[in-house]
Amino acid sequence: MLFKALQINDNRSLVQFAQKTGIPVKRLKYYNDARKMPSGNDLEIIIKESGLSQVALMLLTGNLSRELKTLIATNAGQINRLLSFPPKKTPAFKQIQPVFTTQRGQLFQCDCLDLLQTIENDSVDLVFADPPFNLNKLYPSGINDDLKADQYLSWCEKWLFECTRILKPGGSLFVWNLPKWNSQISEYLNTLLTFRHWISVDIKYSLPIRGRLYPSHYSLLYYCKGEKPATFQPDRIPMGICPHCHGDLKDYGGYKSKMNPNGVNISDVWLDIPPVRHAKYKKRNGSNELSIKLLDRIIEMSSNEGDLVFDPFGGSGTTYAVAEIKNRRWIGVEIGPATDIIDRFHKLEEDRLNLEQIRKDINCLIPEKHYQKRVTQGLWTPETVRMNANG
Ligand SMILES: C[S@@+](CC[C@H](N)C(=O)[O-])C[C@H]1O[C@@H](n2cnc3c(N)ncnc32)[C@H](O)[C@@H]1O
Repeated sequence: MLFKALQINDNRSLVQFAQKTGIPVKRLKYYNDARKMPSGNDLEIIIKESGLSQVALMLLTGNLSRELKTLIATNAGQINRLLSFPPKKTPAFKQIQPVFTTQRGQLFQCDCLDLLQTIENDSVDLVFADPPFNLNKLYPSGINDDLKADQYLSWCEKWLFECTRILKPGGSLFVWNLPKWNSQISEYLNTLLTFRHWISVDIKYSLPIRGRLYPSHYSLLYYCKGEKPATFQPDRIPMGICPHCHGDLKDYGGYKSKMNPNGVNISDVWLDIPPVRHAKYKKRNGSNELSIKLLDRIIEMSSNEGDLVFDPFGGSGTTYAVAEIKNRRWIGVEIGPATDIIDRFHKLEEDRLNLEQIRKDINCLIPEKHYQKRVTQGLWTPETVRMNANG
């Protein structure tokens, strides 16, 4: 965008501009490719050299300050008349047939943007989206996972706009992505929905990178449509307990007797979501499958039985399997082969049993598997601290 604004059309004009301004080509490329507004001396020099004002530069590069956005909104009528936008035509959508159905759900095999056209406004209670991360991965669908940042984010904005459209007022939307992308996605979502949380899910996903902090969390954005979510009923989780010695991982000091025996409040840092790496739990080859524990927590928190859940990026069908087991209705779509998802449903008992085990350990302060061991070792339990507190 910056190059277009400065009429830099080729490498020669880029080098010339760099020579005239003394700004290295690499930095000019960074401003352009990452869509950053230059600042400090660079901004002053660019303004001087180009003859553009700062506001013109903001408009031409799409980097609008809050003040400028307000100004545009205040004068929208006039701007619209000046630009005379043609009315948007709604394309006629074709009916798409599901490739698999259950009593509660329908799975489609197509581009989610095509399917979204067929879904009514304000009809879905919960959207969960785990898109490709644009890391140049090879997906069975063969999609291009190596787009320019601008292209990737524009694509995200398209499906996010549609997902927002189909969300009921009070509905919740979650987006799972790398912090790098979610920081930009949230900028867009803030214009449409109400921000609830940036949840950090503690999972290491790469080796340490030179000159950077060790990437150790995925970002889970949580938004709702309108002021408040219609449903918000988070599970409680156990306190931190050592899996080997069954002792406390934290010192709760004098607070033990005040702790809720149903568990502690879930915070916005989730430390207990396992990566799906073990072949036993994997439903398809590749590394981008999410844990049913994650989807269980989200679905439980933001929907009720009978509600409608939509996930635009099927993958191995984790969202759909958990929704089915938890008696939610669901709509699913995968652009690539849908066989892994369908096979998963033929063995849904595996997920059901797995989920039963997972749910045994929540909504209690001390899960059963630790409780007896702690009693034997004379460690505290909610009952013993209460007895002591009551004399
Ligand atoms: C990161 S994976 C989702 C994994 C899933 N959450 C799970 O737990 O198995 C993203 C999936 O989205 C699919 N996909 C990519 N672009 C799509 C599109 N435009 N429409 C529908 N599916 C798409 C990819 O083929 C891939 O299987």
